[in-house]
Amino acid sequence: MSCSSVSSFTSSLFVPPKKSSFSNHKPRFIHCSLGGTVVGPKATATAEPLLLNAVRGQDVERPPVWLMRQAGRYMKSYQIICEKYPSFRERSENVDLVVEISLQPWNVFKPDGVILFSDILTPLSGMNIPFDIVKGKGPVIFDPLGSAADVDKVREFNPEESVPYVGEALTILRREVDNKAAVLGFVGAPFTLASYVVEGGSSKNFTKIKRLAFSQPKVLHSLLQKFATSMANYIRYQADNGAQAVQIFDSWATELSPVDFEEFSLPYLKQIVDSVKQTHPGLPLILYASGSGGLLERLALTGVDVVSLDWTVDMAEGRKRLGHDIAVQGNVDPGVLFGSKEFITNRINDTVRKAGKGKHVLNLGHGIKVGTPEENVAHFFEVAKAIRY
Ligand code: CP3
Repeated sequence: MSCSSVSSFTSSLFVPPKKSSFSNHKPRFIHCSLGGTVVGPKATATAEPLLLNAVRGQDVERPPVWLMRQAGRYMKSYQIICEKYPSFRERSENVDLVVEISLQPWNVFKPDGVILFSDILTPLSGMNIPFDIVKGKGPVIFDPLGSAADVDKVREFNPEESVPYVGEALTILRREVDNKAAVLGFVGAPFTLASYVVEGGSSKNFTKIKRLAFSQPKVLHSLLQKFATSMANYIRYQADNGAQAVQIFDSWATELSPVDFEEFSLPYLKQIVDSVKQTHPGLPLILYASGSGGLLERLALTGVDVVSLDWTVDMAEGRKRLGHDIAVQGNVDPGVLFGSKEFITNRINDTVRKAGKGKHVLNLGHGIKVGTPEENVAHFFEVAKAIRY
């Protein structure tokens, strides 16, 4: 049974159980308006993970679902690992820990995407930019870059040499997950990486990177070019070692005016996409930028397969603006996971209905927040995985 249009499945939505517990209860369904057939989970014998089929526009019975930052501090099991291994660098650079942490959400929630536990900043040491991620403070770049001489010292990234643990972890994840979900890799986009290394860490005002952009653009361009070449290679390395789709995070691109985005971000994103597509034409690339409403059409110009919308964009409007050739991901407000189960259910249904059938990966509009109740995350996945178009 399939409901073929957006409006037709408004009455086929999942009815959550009264009291959601973490594990094994069977979701209840009400019937779909089209055929009146009772809809239940059925085994689909596909060789490829649902997420890849959906992104490629194949006929799928529901949207695949995973959550940005699904491995992390909202999970008790992650906090226990943090107590034993307090250093983020260690947790994200030791193969066994990377695999264990990446699999934590997989073991509990069975998402349709299993993202590598790592960070967009992980390549920096290999590029001769020393950094750390400090508890309570976030990323710290020890010697922020500000001059042509600083940029000259930045090395191009050689993943095999600098981050062999990433390749090893991806290979193991691919085997463990065994196509029951897609293994996802990710990289930071040139402008977002540049903002960290120039600002020295997270920033509110982005004044240092803008000073550089608007007074010494050549210096910034040469840094962005190094990141573009390096991240294209890093995507290829991740794909060659097991990643089945790769997300590019340009989280802070939207700090730029559209005209500046066109100069300092878009050409480098396009370059990465063009270069990866030449060697890995079948690898889906997903692009995320937070607060992207003003830039949506420009994000699509990069040539990525999927644009990940943040929650400030209405999904139906986003879909309309982007057109149906490109897939969309998102875009439930991470704050919704602090709401009631009923509210969460309604918001998922609203988002899925607005995205329409196919070419949609259900996700949050940004990373899951610290303090999110795990049982609400469990509820989110239960509801999402019971949806049928
Ligand atoms: O999604 C996942 O589960 C994979 C893991 C992942 C992390 N970082 C682990 C992490 C991913 C995909 C990232 C991407 C990332 N890192 C982005 C892009 C996504 C976004 O949020 O916009 C950015 C901008 C970073 C840089 C970064 N790393 C920041 C700003 C911080 C501090 C944030 C905080 O909440 O402290 C980090 C640290 C970090 N990376 C944590 C995690 C789980 C939290 C620190 C910890 O667990 O000890």
